[in-house]
Amino acid sequence: MNCICDIQIPNSQKYSIALQNQINFCGVAPVEKLGKDVFVGIRKELIQETAFFREPETIEFVKKYIKTAFNYKPVINILDGACSKGYETYTIAMMLDEIPQKINLIGFDIGKKAINDAKKGVFFIKQVSGTEETVSAYKYGMAAFNDDYLAFPQTKALSAKQEEYKQLFHKFFTEIPDYKEKIPLYNRLREKFFPETTPHFETKAFQIKPEKANCCDFFYCDILKLDKLFPKKIADVLFFRNALYHLTTKRGPLDFKLARPNEVLVPTLENVVNQIDRTITKNGLFVLGEHYCDHTNMESGKILYKTLEKHKFSPVYFNSDGTMASIWKKN
Ligand SMILES: C[S@@+](CC[C@H](N)C(=O)[O-])C[C@H]1O[C@@H](n2cnc3c(N)ncnc32)[C@H](O)[C@@H]1O
Repeated sequence: MNCICDIQIPNSQKYSIALQNQINFCGVAPVEKLGKDVFVGIRKELIQETAFFREPETIEFVKKYIKTAFNYKPVINILDGACSKGYETYTIAMMLDEIPQKINLIGFDIGKKAINDAKKGVFFIKQVSGTEETVSAYKYGMAAFNDDYLAFPQTKALSAKQEEYKQLFHKFFTEIPDYKEKIPLYNRLREKFFPETTPHFETKAFQIKPEKANCCDFFYCDILKLDKLFPKKIADVLFFRNALYHLTTKRGPLDFKLARPNEVLVPTLENVVNQIDRTITKNGLFVLGEHYCDHTNMESGKILYKTLEKHKFSPVYFNSDGTMASIWKKN
């Protein structure tokens, strides 16, 4: 893969600042809090759960598609929307490393801190330990956090794919020696007084190697305002994985996600799909990811599928049990 990103972004700095000041967006559970002066509707936070090599099957599909359906294109433009702190964008870069075409890869997210972190090129991998119950209680609902095999010895042998991803990871990243994470006082006290029920974390830090640092770039951008940043029909592939629920659900009792009312969902999803349609090339791919809220087991998913079909997208990849159309092609 030729690693220089040269999509021209007009006035991106100015636009990013403007965008951060007029966010019209509903974020969710705790990781990045939006500024107090910002109108955020029901929620005030963005969930930025992510990991290296999360849902790799969809990226494997994209890789095959680029090698076959797009083999006549010398340059492939990829936008990684909702890239969070960049783990996903670098994963795409790693997994497409051997592709002969030149890849322009841009990650964007509405989280200001997430984008600043992504730009630093420093990443963390955590391993959780403790009793079986504590670890499984911690991992419950944390679908993304299973990349510790990249950095920590495992009790079970790695699968062939895990070995491959681990090799790729170490081709791109070097460990920062003697990194020591600051453990918050609350966690230290909890570990001291309730060692049986407190998960213990070990964290390693990694830095992108200088020769790989140009393989992608990062910008603040809202999926609803793609047209402010990117030219029409620029993206051969547009990812927006595990993020649409920020726009389509609200937090219900016990933190369950509830679909917003149809009179909100229909125009919101029409706006989102309009932006995607405008930005994707003919035969380009829209990668939706596998968060259940974005699929037909919720009203928002049903409306999303219908809206994509209306805009002449058709599903080309389903998850393993066939229930989620995770990748769509623009016809
Ligand atoms: C759960 S993370 C998913 C990260 C990554 N795509 C993955 O699958 O690992 C959701 C991300 O969506 C971002 N996000 C939410 N709404 C967005 C919007 N309207 N435009 C761009 N990014 C958005 C959040 O800031 C957050 O980083």
